[in-house]
Amino acid sequence: MQATPDDVPLRLHLAELLLDVGKVEEAVTHVAAALQREPNSIEARALMGRAMAGQAGPPVPAVSRQGVHRDEPTDRYTFNFKFNWAAAESQFADMTQPWLIDPGTKPLVVKPPYEVEPATVRLADIAGMAEVKRRLDSTFLAPLRNPDLRRKYGSGLRSGLLLYGPPGCGKTLLARSIAGEIGSRFLAVSLSELINRWPGSAERNLHLVFTAARRAAPCVLFIDELDALDRKRSRSGGTGSVRAVVNQLLGEMDGTQQNNEGLSVLAAAEAPWEILPTLFAAGRFDRTLLVLPPDVIAREAVLRQHLRDRPVSVTLAGELAKRTKDYSSADLAVLCENAAERALRDSARTGKTRMIDIRDFDAALATVRPSVGAWLTLARNGPKPSGADVGYEELQHYLKLRGLT
Ligand SMILES: Nc1ncnc2c1ncn2[C@@H]1O[C@H](COP(=O)(O)OP(=O)(O)OP(=O)(O)O)[C@@H](O)[C@H]1O
Ligand SMILES: [Mg+2]
Repeated sequence: MQATPDDVPLRLHLAELLLDVGKVEEAVTHVAAALQREPNSIEARALMGRAMAGQAGPPVPAVSRQGVHRDEPTDRYTFNFKFNWAAAESQFADMTQPWLIDPGTKPLVVKPPYEVEPATVRLADIAGMAEVKRRLDSTFLAPLRNPDLRRKYGSGLRSGLLLYGPPGCGKTLLARSIAGEIGSRFLAVSLSELINRWPGSAERNLHLVFTAARRAAPCVLFIDELDALDRKRSRSGGTGSVRAVVNQLLGEMDGTQQNNEGLSVLAAAEAPWEILPTLFAAGRFDRTLLVLPPDVIAREAVLRQHLRDRPVSVTLAGELAKRTKDYSSADLAVLCENAAERALRDSARTGKTRMIDIRDFDAALATVRPSVGAWLTLARNGPKPSGADVGYEELQHYLKLRGLT
């Protein structure tokens, strides 16, 4: 099954054998995977019915590998027993995605909590951040852009690139623009959500995400919040699951096991030195790129974006950009929100509408503080310059520049 995950008849055969020996949960997993590939498969639905009903259901017709039974009247396969779909849904909610819809009323549709996007953003759409764009271009993009070079050195996924830095400073935007630069589709997934929020097993969901990305190739798969795989959590409870996810991820990235042609894997983290070191071995996420707080040019662009549709003079953006060192792009959004709210409250109180002005921003600057400070503290106590933590030279250099080492 591992060698040919898309072989639906084989999967159903396996599921049936599992059901025969009472391994219902495992069988359901395979039937679900089969339904994902062939949502209308009568055999798969029948097997699912049998699994859900325990052994109480009617005998299920043998699954034919050649599918010859398909020509027979389908009512032979309809469910003629009373089955409590609502109860089943809640019983299996943590095992499977919500494909469990009454087949009599609705088609079985799997709507995964991720989405393949077309390439739209380019590096040129990102304001400022000249240094990180330059580094990205020379280290990561140049070889990907040149198909000749790519062929010579072996195409497909060689290893992943990790973007790291303070929250809300453009990691996701940069990742999206990388896809734009190499003309790939973009699929973003949050690893911490995948582990903590999605129903079903995290490994299997991760496999589904990789499968979707491979199908969409050329595709950039962006794995956000890689921090979810940290050393501490793998030591304390839930060991099994973090380890299992790491192994699954490494297996998916291993080009000798998988056909990763046209797939690029990017990841983002805030404090990668907290992550299990195995992920950074050669051939894995062996290249890192530090994404720092927006410079004054980037801040002005972000501020302009947020001021554009508000009753305010956009010329304020330049002045505010100078006064917002260490504010992340996300902080800047909150700042504008806060100033607008103040003007709104004022207008409501006096009954006279007025523009948002610099006094509103003065007040907002006093309440909305830059969030980068907390990350800097984290980074100072983070990787040790010598010893096990290598690959953080850029960060060490930055901390030194700021007099923080
Ligand atoms: N240089 C820039 N030019 C224009 N917009 C920017 C720039 N940097 C960031 N932004 C905008 O700021 C917002 C935050 O950026 P983004 O979501 O990419 O940050 P992040 O580092 O991925 O954040 P998080 O850590 O929360 O995932 C986005 O709306 C993004 O479009
Ligand atoms: Mg992000």
